[in-house]
Amino acid sequence: MKEITLTIDGKVCKGVQGETILEIANKNEVYIPTLCYLEGLTPIGSCRMCVVEVENNPKLLTACTTPAQDGMVVHTKTEKLYNYRRQILELLFAGRNHYCMFCSQSEDCELQRLAIEHGMDHVRYPFLYADFENDASDADLQMDHNRCILCLRCIRVCAEKVGAHTLDLQKRGWDATVISDLGQKLGESDTCVDCGACAQVCPTGTITVREFAYRGKRNDCDDIVESVCPLCAVGCRIKAYVRTGTVARVEGTGTSQPDGGQLCHKGRWHLPESTERERVTTPMIREGVHYREASWEEALSLVAEEFKESYDNKSAGALVSSLCTDEELGVFSAFFKEGMQMSHIDTFDGDVLRGFARGFEPFRRQGVRPFTAAHNLLDSDCIVTLCADPQDEAPVVASYVRVATLKNEATLVNVSSWGEAFPGLTDINIPLKRACGDPGMLNELAAAVSAMQQSAEMPEERENLYEEYEQALTRAAEKADVERETMEQLVKCMVSSEKTTLVLGGSVATDPNVVTAAANLAIAAQAFRDDGLGLVPLVRSGNSLGTINTMLSDEPWIGEENRDFLYVYSTGLVPEDKQEYKEHLAAAANAKFVVVQTPYMVKPLVNFADVLLPAPAWYERSGHYCTIEGERRKLNVIVPPRGEVKGLATVFDALAEKMGITIRQPEIAPCASLFESKIPASQAQMVTEQGVTS
Ligand code: SF4
Ligand code: SF4
Ligand code: SF4
Ligand code: FES
Repeated sequence: MKEITLTIDGKVCKGVQGETILEIANKNEVYIPTLCYLEGLTPIGSCRMCVVEVENNPKLLTACTTPAQDGMVVHTKTEKLYNYRRQILELLFAGRNHYCMFCSQSEDCELQRLAIEHGMDHVRYPFLYADFENDASDADLQMDHNRCILCLRCIRVCAEKVGAHTLDLQKRGWDATVISDLGQKLGESDTCVDCGACAQVCPTGTITVREFAYRGKRNDCDDIVESVCPLCAVGCRIKAYVRTGTVARVEGTGTSQPDGGQLCHKGRWHLPESTERERVTTPMIREGVHYREASWEEALSLVAEEFKESYDNKSAGALVSSLCTDEELGVFSAFFKEGMQMSHIDTFDGDVLRGFARGFEPFRRQGVRPFTAAHNLLDSDCIVTLCADPQDEAPVVASYVRVATLKNEATLVNVSSWGEAFPGLTDINIPLKRACGDPGMLNELAAAVSAMQQSAEMPEERENLYEEYEQALTRAAEKADVERETMEQLVKCMVSSEKTTLVLGGSVATDPNVVTAAANLAIAAQAFRDDGLGLVPLVRSGNSLGTINTMLSDEPWIGEENRDFLYVYSTGLVPEDKQEYKEHLAAAANAKFVVVQTPYMVKPLVNFADVLLPAPAWYERSGHYCTIEGERRKLNVIVPPRGEVKGLATVFDALAEKMGITIRQPEIAPCASLFESKIPASQAQMVTEQGVTS
């Protein structure tokens, strides 16, 4: 791209052709006030706060939408501009009811800050005294139209980043208001996914988060800590605002990030909520149906004694959460696996993770990374969801799918036995009559896609390949129990697209053959990305991929027999208390002696404990996660642990001493070394039961 040079306020500024005056000014640290502009969203030039003067041009130009040109001489701070901007601000204040002293956003409001910056000590225009109804219908968000400056940031973020298209504008001029759907109240919207992105980008106190109102003002917070949301494997980055030792506000990062800086409802609302849950604060020992408080010394001595008594490596078991950091998993593994030589250690979602690990293994052996960063869905032109429900499993992935479908017109194909993951957006629906996840059907599909791809590349073989295609397609349709024509639509979508991406649901990944077959299908469709195969695995916990890397038993053992001793390290978040983990709960209920270390009173798990030990909550820990965004991300301590809470390393050091064993310093292999692309994805080869095909 051609480099250009312009002069802004006397400063020589470099940029590239195609950039706007504002982008070059920002890059060169020249301040231009803005209101409707937000990096990462399409600029619309509506508020006119960013107007600048350009020499030899009689008009005032909006810096956020005007492309910079080589040699331009730009002025941003003239008296004329200052007066013009102040006039805009006065009109905005006169048009709606900006009574800052009653507004939860006061001191944290971009409009107010600009008014102060422009010396706006009074308003010269008559006030309109707007009287719009306050929309307080939503449980989390509140919308006071009387403070809206119609910058449309909320509408753009909802459409361009969340892909929900919930918000729009109704009426014109000063009668215009932001509406949801066809005029319903926000709390009654059918399309809102409750992500809170609109509130994060709103520059005024119009859309606010009830939970953060007043107490979560940026200026009043003591610290802003960047960390990672642990609630699914996307691992969105978060900014947590800490005030007097509690989390007062949570935001995603900027909209300019490749992933749009998004958070879903879980990421945005969970953290402040979770700081209010009932905690386990001291070690406790069961006495009959009650617990009594104990010291760490007494509790760990009892654990060591019981462990020694019952211990043989067949009758003891240990369970850990895949929301733990690499470092915690390393400690857990070093103590139980190597120190105690136990083979029965696992995570709550071990079956799904084992399925992914085994299914991906043949591709890893080839040196191919068998999946791609989730945000690569954004530029896909054909997305196939295979027995997946992204809105439930990893909601930000659902945003990527919606944006690709609505903004980039990607074709969306749903293959599942339980209905459409994206009702109203699906182009091709393949409702499987048989249970979801038949590797045979996926392999036939891969054979059909492959034959069609090859027939385009090898015209001389076309007849034979067509025969192969016909047969494979018929078999795939039979196995899925769907119309052949429907299956053919899927094949055509995959073959005609340049960037196909498959999204594989976690529930079917318990069968490694399904995982392998899905990766085969990606190879057949030539779904190759720079970082690996065009497949996005949906795993539910923050560090699922790190868990595969660090600690997973080779075979499932939960439910096989009752254990004499069970150690459970729970993070107290989803999914340990879910019904789908009932086998784990049954194992805890049936074990002779159970130790539960957990931050929260997670019922019914804590009811099975003979010894209950406090653990730090996720926001009290630091370490690393390996995310399906393809990065190893750092989890930081947001607020320090309180009371007698001890981390895994401290507890296991003490326990090891009592047990008379030595545990090594855990070595953490970064997940990148496990899921490394040693060869380009385009060189990946399909895998059959007989081995790798060429
Ligand atoms: S909460 Fe999210 S989906 Fe709902 S209106 Fe706001 S941005 Fe759109
Ligand atoms: S609600 Fe907020 S973000 Fe949306 S148009 Fe009004 S002021 Fe702008
Ligand atoms: S998508 Fe997952 S990681 Fe991101 S905010 Fe939601 S729960 Fe957290
Ligand atoms: S910021 Fe440029 S017109 Fe609003």
